[in-house]
Amino acid sequence: MTTKLRVLDDAVPPDLPHEEGHGDAPGALGTSDASAYRSSLEPRRVFVDTFGCQMNAHDSERMVGLMAAEGYAPTEDPEIADLIVLNSCSIREKAEHKLLSAAGSLKFIKEKRPDAVLAIAGCVAQQEGKSLLARAPHIDIVFGPDHIARLPELVREVQQTRRRVSETEFLSRSEFAFPRLTDASSVPVSAYVSVMKGCDKFCTFCIVPFTRGREVSRDAADILDEVQWLAARGSQEIVLLGQTVNAYGRQKRSGQVPFHELLAQVAAIPGVRRVRFTSPHPSDFTDAQILAFRDVPELCPHMHLPVQSGSDDVLARMRRGYTRAEYLAVVRRLREVAPSVSLTTDIIVGFPGETEKDFQDTLSLVEEVRFQAAFCFAYSERTGTRAVGLDGVVPFEERARRLRILLERQEQITGEWLSSMVGQRLEVLVEGPSKSDPARSTGRSGQNRPVHIDGSFLPGTMLEVEVVEAFRHSLRATPIAKTPMATSVASSSAA
Ligand code: SAH
Ligand code: SF4
Ligand code: F3S
Repeated sequence: MTTKLRVLDDAVPPDLPHEEGHGDAPGALGTSDASAYRSSLEPRRVFVDTFGCQMNAHDSERMVGLMAAEGYAPTEDPEIADLIVLNSCSIREKAEHKLLSAAGSLKFIKEKRPDAVLAIAGCVAQQEGKSLLARAPHIDIVFGPDHIARLPELVREVQQTRRRVSETEFLSRSEFAFPRLTDASSVPVSAYVSVMKGCDKFCTFCIVPFTRGREVSRDAADILDEVQWLAARGSQEIVLLGQTVNAYGRQKRSGQVPFHELLAQVAAIPGVRRVRFTSPHPSDFTDAQILAFRDVPELCPHMHLPVQSGSDDVLARMRRGYTRAEYLAVVRRLREVAPSVSLTTDIIVGFPGETEKDFQDTLSLVEEVRFQAAFCFAYSERTGTRAVGLDGVVPFEERARRLRILLERQEQITGEWLSSMVGQRLEVLVEGPSKSDPARSTGRSGQNRPVHIDGSFLPGTMLEVEVVEAFRHSLRATPIAKTPMATSVASSSAA
């Protein structure tokens, strides 16, 4: 998945003409040269291309914010950018290939504009470090996720010395600071807030513990302070982020609270209308966390709960730390407490040693749970993980065949569920205009389903809508009413 951070190109921070090292304001130079005048007013520009998961999307937002404070305006066009960052993912081989081809295609930019600074961030950067610099001589900076806060400093260093840099060592708990959004002009309606970083689970297929380092939970006071800042500036939905987000606070260090208390405290902050979290790990659930779906009204009825496989043998070889029955017990309890909860998941097919019977167990689990959606992947071998060298490698064609069958079945289930939504009333938080039809707005239901609404509504409007049509992955609806605290005026006649 590749997401360009499509921030408005002309959203130039007001203090730009005074930025350091980018030419003086015309008055200071005393020149009347029109071209010099124009260039001094033109901001530097940063282009960030994001691959991978929400952690990377969140990190990219923070990078854009840090560079905005340095006078860099975001752009969607790498050809005019003074700083280009590829925020990379190495979760599967395909993601890594995408990064390498994107990096290769930047070569011509460096040839045309040698002053442009090219950087690779994220998980491939963390893994490859200096060797990326050796392989790609046009890249100036390689830095891992722990070094995001230093991006402005690294860029200045390259500009001043033209030396190439690589920063990939993990920072200690005391050195690491969770990066925050600082640019008030880019506060989203739905905002990610990191509550932890890293992962200690070491599932045998997964590269994340090697690219993100050890699990560290953030102080609750710091999290609440960031949420307060965001809510005061218009964020109405807060999505708490972590690779195993519900493991938050399990180390019981001072400054941390149990995860279910954190949920309630975030929800209680004025202006917060919705709370979500992603992704929880099935083994880290406590009953108190599940009861939060009943007791915290702001907590949305959706949970992304990766299962990976329906076979106990495969789960054991993946070292997931739960059995099929234990996973199903979490699902059962959750549905008992919150019957309207929608469940989505991640599944891997073709893990080494996966037999046809194991695969059928995954299909039967999908039938049993009836997930509202599933992200399904063919197993991809990652160097350095413990699954490398396991017996029973499943041929690529067989992985592809199982993936096709699984996807087909899940699409049917998703389709049936979406069709059953037609005629129902939902509450939708508008996030912006629809990309495919400007006469519509797009938002999400509490169950996290994209909903396209007839009419133009400002981001942040909370609407009650009636579903009129089901698409493959989303819904179309007509507005019934705005729910209290709506912040904007609708142009639709039905509002
Ligand atoms: N922290 C989350 C997963 C993050 S990675 C969790 O524990 O569930 C997102 C998804 O990528 C995983 O859930 C898994 O389904 C998939 N994935 C990870 N490594 C993979 C690999 N080597 N091959 C195929 N899919 C993989
Ligand atoms: Fe990877 Fe497992 Fe950690 Fe998730 S819990 S990030 S799958 S090692
Ligand atoms: Fe990819 Fe790193 Fe996220 S490997 S999935 S960007 S943690």
